[in-house]
Amino acid sequence: MNLIEKITKHVKKKKELSLIDDSFVEKIVKEKLEKNPKLKKFFEEHEKLNRSKKYKNFIKKIRAHLRKVYGVYLSKGFEKRNEFFKKGDYCSILKTHLSTRERFEIYPKLYKEIWKITGKPKSIIDLACGMNPFSFKFMGLKNVRYLAIDISPEDVKLINKFFKKEGINGKAKLLDLLKIEHYNIFKPFKEFDVAFLFKSLDSPIVKSKKIAELLIKKVPAKWVVVSFATKTIGQRKMKKANREWIKKIAEKLGYKVKVLNFENEVFYVIKK
Ligand SMILES: C[S@@+](CC[C@H](N)C(=O)[O-])C[C@H]1O[C@@H](n2cnc3c(N)ncnc32)[C@H](O)[C@@H]1O
Repeated sequence: MNLIEKITKHVKKKKELSLIDDSFVEKIVKEKLEKNPKLKKFFEEHEKLNRSKKYKNFIKKIRAHLRKVYGVYLSKGFEKRNEFFKKGDYCSILKTHLSTRERFEIYPKLYKEIWKITGKPKSIIDLACGMNPFSFKFMGLKNVRYLAIDISPEDVKLINKFFKKEGINGKAKLLDLLKIEHYNIFKPFKEFDVAFLFKSLDSPIVKSKKIAELLIKKVPAKWVVVSFATKTIGQRKMKKANREWIKKIAEKLGYKVKVLNFENEVFYVIKK
């Protein structure tokens, strides 16, 4: 086991981080070590690494970062997802992730409003999907092709089981959206009618507006629906609740934008 693998294994010992893909954690560890070659050398040469204070601090930092991009969204009961799944209790699964829990009440109205603008889609790509595919019954769609993307292997596995059990023509795939900075991650995919980019274009998940722009531009979809929370995780109203920058980016690319406002979330429906 090399140093990066060892650190990754150590970091993932925390239950709430154990669901993240190894390669994603390895990438973060590698980036952080590359920024600090002295620390990397120290780790490589240290014999009893687990006892070193510098090492413990490093593990803490990596975990803090991962909690921001993944763990912070887990809600009470996430460890019971498989149990809920067996019972077909998909509403409870939606409530084990903060984003879908907060959206739960508005789902039926939300999809109706979106389809009013886009038309009922025949295909959907759901980027950084979390548990959102479990809201499928609220979409009121039949014969739809559904591709769900996330960095959590456990989530991807569960969503694939869900598609199979419910006879949905869907697939969930592991994919790191941030790689769009280096190459077109969407090249292998066919075109979709609608792409969802719900609550994922904000820092720390997407690190820059440049990446947000690349995702919108490159995703092979006629429509892209981008959403942002308008309340903080602690339920306080956000100062910068209106994310007009996304509208500016879309309009700069020559796309048309409509805005749907809900109490806790704002949706930008972009026609490419
Ligand atoms: C705030 S949640 C949003 C989930 C879902 N879109 C929703 O709104 O219900 C962010 C999701 O992005 C995923 N994620 C974080 N970084 C990612 C990356 N680089 N590539 C793909 N997915 C990522 C996390 O695993 C998590 O499920």
